[in-house]
Amino acid sequence: MANKMWGGRFETKPAEIMEEINASISFDQRFYAEDIRASQAHARMLGACGIVTPEEADAIVAGLDTVREEIEGGRFEFRREYEDIHMAVEARLKDIIGPVAGKLHTGRSRNDQVATDFRLYIRGAIDHLDEQITTLQLALATKAKAHAATIMPGFTHMQVAQPVTFGHHCLAYVEMLDRDRGRFADARARVNESPLGAAALAGTSFPIDRHMTASALGFARPLANSLDSVSSRDFALETLAAAAICATHLSRLSEEIVVWFSAGFKFITLSDRFTTGSSIMPQKRNPDAAELVRAKVGRIAGAFVSLLTVMKGLPLAYSKDMQEDKEAVFLAIDALSLGLAAMTGMIEDMEPVPERMRDAAGQGFSTATDLADWLVLHAQLPFREAHHVTGRIVKHAENLGVDLHEVPLKDMQAVEPRITERIFDVLNVDKSVESRRSFGGTAPQNVKAAAEIWLKKLEAA
Ligand code: ARG
Repeated sequence: MANKMWGGRFETKPAEIMEEINASISFDQRFYAEDIRASQAHARMLGACGIVTPEEADAIVAGLDTVREEIEGGRFEFRREYEDIHMAVEARLKDIIGPVAGKLHTGRSRNDQVATDFRLYIRGAIDHLDEQITTLQLALATKAKAHAATIMPGFTHMQVAQPVTFGHHCLAYVEMLDRDRGRFADARARVNESPLGAAALAGTSFPIDRHMTASALGFARPLANSLDSVSSRDFALETLAAAAICATHLSRLSEEIVVWFSAGFKFITLSDRFTTGSSIMPQKRNPDAAELVRAKVGRIAGAFVSLLTVMKGLPLAYSKDMQEDKEAVFLAIDALSLGLAAMTGMIEDMEPVPERMRDAAGQGFSTATDLADWLVLHAQLPFREAHHVTGRIVKHAENLGVDLHEVPLKDMQAVEPRITERIFDVLNVDKSVESRRSFGGTAPQNVKAAAEIWLKKLEAA
C-alpha cells in the first residue's frame, strides 16, 4: 500500500532502502513537544480565522494533548513508515479524533512546520545553554575571588612571561564565556522569528493570521518572506558557530587543566569525582574529564562545518538535504551541554597549590619587565635602552645559574651604575603583581574588585 499521508498518486510503497534513507523520525521525535505545541497554535488560529469551526479546532487541540500524553507516557510507537514526527503525530491524531484531523494541515506544509519546530527547539536549547554557561562563570568567579592574590606564572609561548594571579586567569575565562552568552543571545534573537504559515514556499490562499501563531508561540514576529521562511537554516548555523566558539574556550581551559595537573607543574589538585585511575598503573590519576571536554570541540566544530556544507549551494526553497540539519544541531548541543556540566564540576572541585604556582612564577626571570620598568622610572632610561640593559643582566644571571633577585647588586651596577638596592623591591613576584594596577591588570586589588562585580552580576542573572 502506498504512503497514507501523501500516497495518492503512488501505486506501491517505497523500497525498504528508500524508507530508510528518507525517514527522520528516529531523531526528529526529539521535538515532539514543539511539534504538538506549534500544531495547537496553528489549529487555534484556523479556528479563530473561521477556516475550521471552533468545535473542530477544539477537537484537534484536545486530540493533540492526548497524543502528547501518549508520547510522554511511553505509549506511542514511532513507526518509520510515517517518515517523521510531523506525520506520525498527525496520523495518530486521526486515529484518535477521526477525519477532522485532516483539517490541521490546512494552510501549512511540513516545510514551514519543520522550520517552526526546529526554531522552537533551538530557542529552548539556547536558554538552557545560557543557564549552564552562567553556572560555569559563577564557579570561575568564585575561585577568582578566593584566589585574587594567589600568584602563578603567566605564560606566552608556554614560556614563563610575567607573574599573574590565579584569580585573574579564572576571570579571563569568565569574560570569554560572557561573550559566548552574547553570541547565543544574538543567535536567539534571529532564531526567534516564526516561519509558520509560509506553507510549502509561496504562502497560502487561506485567510490565515501568521501574527497570531507567531505570538502564541512566543516568537517576536513572523518571518516576512515565505521563501526565506522555509529555505533558511542560518539560524541553526549561527547557533552552531556560537557553540563551536564556546567549545573552543572550554577546550583551551581543559588543556590548561591538563597541563597544570601534570607532574612537571602540579599547580592544581583535581577531585576524585573528576579524575580516573588506570587499570594497570595503580598510582595513576588522570584528568580524563578535562581531556574529554578538550575533545568535544571536534564534533561541535564538525557539526557546524557539516551543516554549512549541506546548505552551501542549495537552491530555494526546501530540499530534502535540509533534513540533515537536525542531527548536527542535536549532537552539538548535547556535546556542549555535557562539556559545560563536566567543566563546572571540575572547576568547583579544583584547588590551586599556591606554593607550586608561586615558585614557578619566580622562575624564568619573570620579573625582568619590572626591572626594565624600574630603570625607566628611577634611572630615566628610555624603555628600549632599559630593555637592553635588563637583557644583559638576565644573560649574566643565566651564566651564574641564578634567578634575577639573586644577582649581586654590584654585578647589576657593573651593567648600569644607576641601579640601587631599591631594585630588589620590584624583583619579587608579589611586588610585581601588586604594581600591575592598570585597568584590567592583574593586581590582586583589581582582581578582587572584578571578581566581586562578576559575582554580583551572575548571582542576579
Ligand atoms: N522530515 C522533514 C525534514 O526534516 C520534514 C519536511 C519535509 N518536507 C518535504 N517537503 N518533504 O526536513
